[in-house]
Amino acid sequence: MRATFLPFARPDVGADELDEVREVLESGWLTTGPKAARFESEFAARVGAPHAVAVASGTAALHLALVALGVGRDDVVLTTPYTFAATAEAVRYLDARPLFVDVEPDTLNLSPAALDDAAARARRVHGDRLRAVIAVHLAGHPCDMDGLTAVAGRHGLAVVEDAAHAFPATYRGRPVGTAEASVACFSFYATKALTTGEGGMITTADAAVAERCRMLTLHGIDRDVWRRGGSRASWRYEVVAPGYKANLPDLAAALGLAQLRRADLMWKRRSQIAARYAEAFAAEAALDPPVARPDVEHAWQLYLLRLRAGARAGGSDPEQARDAFVEALARRNIGASVHFKPLHLHRYYRERHGCRPGDCPVAEREWRREVSLPLYSRMTDSDVRDVIRAVGDVVHGRA
Ligand SMILES: Cc1ncc(COP(=O)(O)O)c(C=O)c1O
Repeated sequence: MRATFLPFARPDVGADELDEVREVLESGWLTTGPKAARFESEFAARVGAPHAVAVASGTAALHLALVALGVGRDDVVLTTPYTFAATAEAVRYLDARPLFVDVEPDTLNLSPAALDDAAARARRVHGDRLRAVIAVHLAGHPCDMDGLTAVAGRHGLAVVEDAAHAFPATYRGRPVGTAEASVACFSFYATKALTTGEGGMITTADAAVAERCRMLTLHGIDRDVWRRGGSRASWRYEVVAPGYKANLPDLAAALGLAQLRRADLMWKRRSQIAARYAEAFAAEAALDPPVARPDVEHAWQLYLLRLRAGARAGGSDPEQARDAFVEALARRNIGASVHFKPLHLHRYYRERHGCRPGDCPVAEREWRREVSLPLYSRMTDSDVRDVIRAVGDVVHGRA
């Protein structure tokens, strides 16, 4: 057994990040300024998006994107329940209503067929209050965007991509964030494959949406703080819209610039680890490794393994057995996690939004047997072997 605990996630930061951050500290300008502007343009170039706006978090990106698209009180937004709290929370910020739509069994991403049915029903009940759909590229596997955008187009819905896990994934040869949808929202949270500690990015092909998002990040003021507070700048500004405080400081953007330069290397390492896992688990009848459809490059932000009956570390209830599996890995010094308990099963959504078990049967069936394994570029070959050995030991009930 491993002598030390292998954490579930760990950022890959080093000398390059330190140099970038030191430059900011020495410059005397810590908040949003030249580094954030460079991070925006380099990120936009990397994903092939016409516009990018750096923000304080992935949650802020979703929030501002919805505001910029005109979503407001009592509007209805369709989304997947198989996601983190932030996706639907951004809808709730606006006093709009999230409606959960079931997922596809292989990728666990929003199902175009289920979206079609849900949109037709929601249109009958909510009329023109039905405004948008948020598609989440779960774990870094892109959604069926052609399917989803075709359905959204038929029902007149704006499409927001929650790309929190999806840098640097591609869909049919196009990087996620290129402009597949109205807006894409990335997260650079501490556990993400590209991190700025906390941070996010909005990308879009729509210049007006980008401009609106940029203004909303800083109190609805018509000029950014760099131009207002930089040398020889005028103090004058005008509040022209109801804004928020959601800008990305240069300290964080500096980290992002260094991370962006190493993004391909880090992605290659994660892909290699995912391939090692796939090879090791292929022969295990009790495990369902994650799929990567042939028309995508998976970002491998997360490794979502699913257990079959034979792999259960205890009990016949899949959820209890999965929990026992996670605990058994922890006893072997391997950090694991679970992604995600579907949002419609959480108390808030049951009590306040009338969600019920049975609303999204595929999500409900699949999350109960899901275990996320460590997958990050700083893992050594021996870390990867330790995870594979520990999973094998638990599957086969070896001590
Ligand atoms: C799917 C998804 N969407 C949105 C977010 C929110 O991102 P942030 O933590 O940067 O606000 C997360 C965060 O982990 C996430 O996993």
